[in-house]
Amino acid sequence: MQPAPDAPILLFDSGIGGLTVLAELRRVLPQAPVLYVADTAGLPYGEKTEAQIAARVAGLLGRLSERFAPRLITIACNTASTIALGMVRDVLQVPIVGTVPAIKPAAAMTRSGTIGLLGTAATIRQAYVDQLEAEFATGKRLLRHAAPELVQAAEGRLRGAAMDPAAIEAAVTGLRRQPGGDSIDTVVLACTHFPLLVDKLSHAFGPDVRFVDGAAGIARRIAHLTQGQTFIRKSPDRALFTGTADDLHAIGPALLNYHVEQCERF
Ligand code: DGL
Repeated sequence: MQPAPDAPILLFDSGIGGLTVLAELRRVLPQAPVLYVADTAGLPYGEKTEAQIAARVAGLLGRLSERFAPRLITIACNTASTIALGMVRDVLQVPIVGTVPAIKPAAAMTRSGTIGLLGTAATIRQAYVDQLEAEFATGKRLLRHAAPELVQAAEGRLRGAAMDPAAIEAAVTGLRRQPGGDSIDTVVLACTHFPLLVDKLSHAFGPDVRFVDGAAGIARRIAHLTQGQTFIRKSPDRALFTGTADDLHAIGPALLNYHVEQCERF
């Protein structure tokens, strides 16, 4: 059965990181109605336990899909996906697209054979990441580093706050100081927040390091799964945030750059 023409694609993240996926989605499906949802009351997911993350994500997505009947849900968050994707797929009747650390393309790109991976603490310890490494990066060296300060830096930057250079420096040295870190030529941005800082990261890592993230691949996957469907945007796209009303005022202007014109609490 075809979804209603105005049924939205729901993009979910703990914060504003999923906007990096939304930017790619706009490129491939500019006509698609989108509902962006950020669990800012639960941010940062990366510092939570697996059980806490799974409970929040499954609970919120269950309520959201009953209320807004999305045609498809994208968990635009590596942390939530690597932990809760299977569970959410088991319980919801909606197609769900997840976000997987881009280890496969990184393994194809690296010339030195050494790949860095920046993610949240919760993501980098997942067996899912071990599996991706075993499947796609055999014979390569994958160095992982948890960079929670980059999540805060990206959140602040989008709200107009000055960037703390120490956050970038900590992420770079966290990878470079590991044995073999000098040879990193490719860095996986395994958190949807991090592409918002790629200019700063690129400057700090130097010109020989390339970055890869999953956003374009996710957008292509959404386009594939919704092929042949009709899209009609009956009202401007909006975002829902679980955080405070004050925060909505801070974030609203940046959302306009992503063609999200309304912002409400959920
Ligand atoms: N954007 C999320 C991710 O892709 C994580 C941010 C957080 O710690 O909540 O992993």
